[in-house]
Formats: sequence, C-alpha cells, structure tokens
Amino acid sequence: MNYNRIIVARRLLRNPPQAERQLKMASPKHPLLLLLPLFLSIIAISVECFEEEGRSTLSKRGRIGGGEAGSPAAVNGVLRFKGTKGEFKILQVADMHYADGRSTPCLDVFPAQMPTCSDLNTTAFINRVIQAENPDLVVFTGDNIFGYDSTDSAKSLDMAYAPVVERKLPWAAVLGNHDQEGTLSREGVMQHIVGMPHTLSRLNPDGVVIDGFGNYNLEVGGVEGSALANKSVLNLYFIDSGDYSTVPSIPGYGWIKPSQQLWFQKTSSHLQKGYTSRPEAQKQPAPGLVYFHIPLPEYSSFDASNLTGVKQEGISSASINSGFFATMVEAGDVKAVFTGHDHLNDFCGELTGIQLCYAGGFGYHAYGKAGWSRRARVVSAYLEKTVEGEWEGVKSIKTWKRLDDQYLSTTDTQVLWNKGSTGRRRKRTTGV
Ligand SMILES: *[C@@H]1O[C@H](CO)[C@@H](O)[C@H](O)[C@H]1NC(C)=O
Ligand SMILES: *[C@@H]1O[C@H](CO)[C@@H](O)[C@H](O)[C@H]1NC(C)=O
Ligand SMILES: *[C@@H]1O[C@H](CO)[C@@H](O)[C@H](O)[C@H]1NC(C)=O
Repeated sequence: MNYNRIIVARRLLRNPPQAERQLKMASPKHPLLLLLPLFLSIIAISVECFEEEGRSTLSKRGRIGGGEAGSPAAVNGVLRFKGTKGEFKILQVADMHYADGRSTPCLDVFPAQMPTCSDLNTTAFINRVIQAENPDLVVFTGDNIFGYDSTDSAKSLDMAYAPVVERKLPWAAVLGNHDQEGTLSREGVMQHIVGMPHTLSRLNPDGVVIDGFGNYNLEVGGVEGSALANKSVLNLYFIDSGDYSTVPSIPGYGWIKPSQQLWFQKTSSHLQKGYTSRPEAQKQPAPGLVYFHIPLPEYSSFDASNLTGVKQEGISSASINSGFFATMVEAGDVKAVFTGHDHLNDFCGELTGIQLCYAGGFGYHAYGKAGWSRRARVVSAYLEKTVEGEWEGVKSIKTWKRLDDQYLSTTDTQVLWNKGSTGRRRKRTTGV
C-alpha cells in the first residue's frame, strides 16, 4: 500500500496540489493594489452601522470573575494573568491538517516511519507539548483540518481539538485556506468551532459588517486584586486571512480586507483609550499580538542575516498587499504577528517595530520535511512587579519553539518585545 500514491491520486482528482503549487510560486504585484487605500476610505466613510466603538470583553461580560488559587486562567470566558507567576503563556499550533484520525497517513516522514504514522501522531504531539508547557491559552492558526481528506468535517474538528477540550484548556482558532474544503463551509467550520467546549473563539463581532468568519479579540486582564485587575494588559486579535482570491484578475490567496482592518483599527483604538485613561491611566498602550493564517507580503523582508529561525520556502502571501501591516504600524499597539501556512518557515523577523513570526508546521498530515521535526511556537508575556511587590502591566514578551523530537527540544528562544524600548530605539542603541 502506497499511501503517498493514494493521496496524490485523490488530490489530482480534485486538483488542489497544482493549485497550491501555482499559488505558492506566483507573487505578481498588481495595479489594483493602488486602489485599496481608496476602498478603505470609502468604507470608512460609509460604515455607519458600525457598533459603538470596539467592544471590550471585560466590560461586556461584566466583572472579571474567579481568582481562587489553582483556578484556570480563564474564568467565565475571561482570561487573566495569575499572581503566582505574573506570566501568561500562549501555545500556537499551526497547520495541523487533521483529517480522519488513525486512517489518515502522514506526509513527508521517512519511509520507514509511514506504517506507524497518522493524524494520531499530531494528537500525541499536542498532548506532549501541552503537558510540557502548561499554556494558559492554545491558539490554532488555521488549516487546522484538511478538508479534502476529511470524510466528515465536524468529526475532524472534534478530533483535532480533543486534546484542549478534554483538558478544559481555553483555546481559540482562526481559519486557514483548507479548513472549508470538506463537508462544511467556512462559516460552517467556524460555527462548529464556536459551539465547542472551552473555546473563546467567536464567529465575528456583533453588529459589524465584516468579511470572513472568525474575526474577534480577547483581552487578558491584570492580576486579580492588583491595580490593573479591571484592565486588559495584553490584547489578542484574531483575524480571518481568507482562503483564495475571489477577484478573477488577481490570482492566488486571499487577503485581509478593508472591513477587517477597520474593525481592528476601532478595536485597537478603543482598547488603547481604556488603558491610558483613568482610573489607573497607563502611559503606553497594552501590547497587542495578532494571529491569522496567511503571512503578509512583509514577511518577505528578511533573510538569514535578520531572522531568527529558518526560511526554507518562499513566502506564500496574497499576490497583492492590502495594507494590513501599515494599519498595524499606525495603530501602534501591535508588537508581534503570528501566522502559519508555510510549514517549512519557522522564523521571526522585526520590521518597523513589529515582529513577524511563523510557527512552523505542526501536523503530520501536512507537507513538511522528513528529518525536520514538526514544531509549535510558545509565546509568554511577563508582568512588571513594583518594589512593593504589586503586579503591573506587561514588561516583556518572549518566544521559543518546541520540536516534536525525542526531547521535545526548545529552540530559538528570543525576546520579542520589552517595555520602555520601542523596536526602533532598541535597534539604534544595540546595533542589532
Ligand atoms: C507516530 O506514533 C507512533 C505510535 O506512538 C510511533 O511509534 C511513531 O514513531 C510516531 N511517528 C513519528 C514520525 O513520530
Ligand atoms: C475592579 O472592579 C471591581 C468590581 O467593579 C471593584 O470592586 C474593584 O475595586 C475594581 N478594582 C480596581 C483596582 O479598580
Ligand atoms: C535584512 O537584511 C537584508 C540584507 O541582507 C536587507 O536587504 C533587508 O532589508 C533586511 N531586512 C530588514 C527588515 O531589516
């Protein structure tokens, strides 16, 4: 039995690999790009139905609850730092490509490993890395299931997320370009996810006309009982980066649309206003982290001299630039962006004060490279503590990766952001 041949035959019938390969090679710059700022401003003017300012989950859901010793970080659906360590840890899982479980073979492992390798190895890796890292939140950045090879998308979703559901771990997901290729549409997949236990994922913000499914934000509150207990000290944004272009003259992958950028802008501005105004007005905005699937064109800004990790394949962004990077730079609170999509890239590189990071491929039914371990990215934020022992806002953000090797090795530990030094100033003073 040659599993690879069967997979290739099935895909040839349905045609995705050529499409994927063509998409991954083509990256023409398009003249329509020039019109995007215009679209943005037209929408900015015409969107009147936008709900009154960005929503605050802290205020919307009322008081942040809980705080008993040993209670999970998420209480009543609201995340917060715990006073025991003043740390909040996020595990990013990119591109699980989950299908039918035990009967779904692995791709790109050594031939001798094929007979014993399936989606269940992906499940085993999640279990292992969760046990080792004990994250406060798990974020799945798309292509979580591989629709083409899934018999029943709902079942694939249930199997894929089972490790976090069983542990009652708070988790969030966004869509990739393959999640909807099975028995459920993009909306159907996201709706199924939103209905699953312990997820903080949402379909879309209420009352907002927006492209895609799975655009939402999460707030991470300060330590219970501290001055910042009622503020979000770390902001997480989740965005649907789409699947494929629906504009016939533009080939390739989807992009983050003006409606989504406008929602991001309003949400960021609202959160910043809340953080920097009384009571307990803070001097700088709380740091923001952004999660989605398809890398931005700006991910091409790096080479081996200025990235941490590896770049082993091209950057498969959309073939046009819809301007989301500039939108984030202007907003001012975003410190890092995390995507997946290109399984053989696992680097972070800094551009204009924002770290652009890949997680590297996680799933065994996803293309990869035999001998190059499947991997996950961990991000940890640390609170500042006063000399009096009071917990304050976020002081620094670190990241590292965990490899699915014998030792579950940790690699490429780096500081993504430090309070009090903007990316630019840090660059000038250290010459990095
Ligand atoms: C997949 O899991 C099986 C069962 O635990 C194990 O024997 C095998 O080595 C794993 N394969 C890979 C490539 O990790
Ligand atoms: C946070 O909100 C609760 C409930 O409204 C209030 O009792 C508490 O004093 C507030 N804490 C701070 C530090 O503002
Ligand atoms: C990384 O270094 C290359 C030259 O090796 C340079 O062209 C590129 O602009 C640098 N990127 C950034 C973001 O500094």
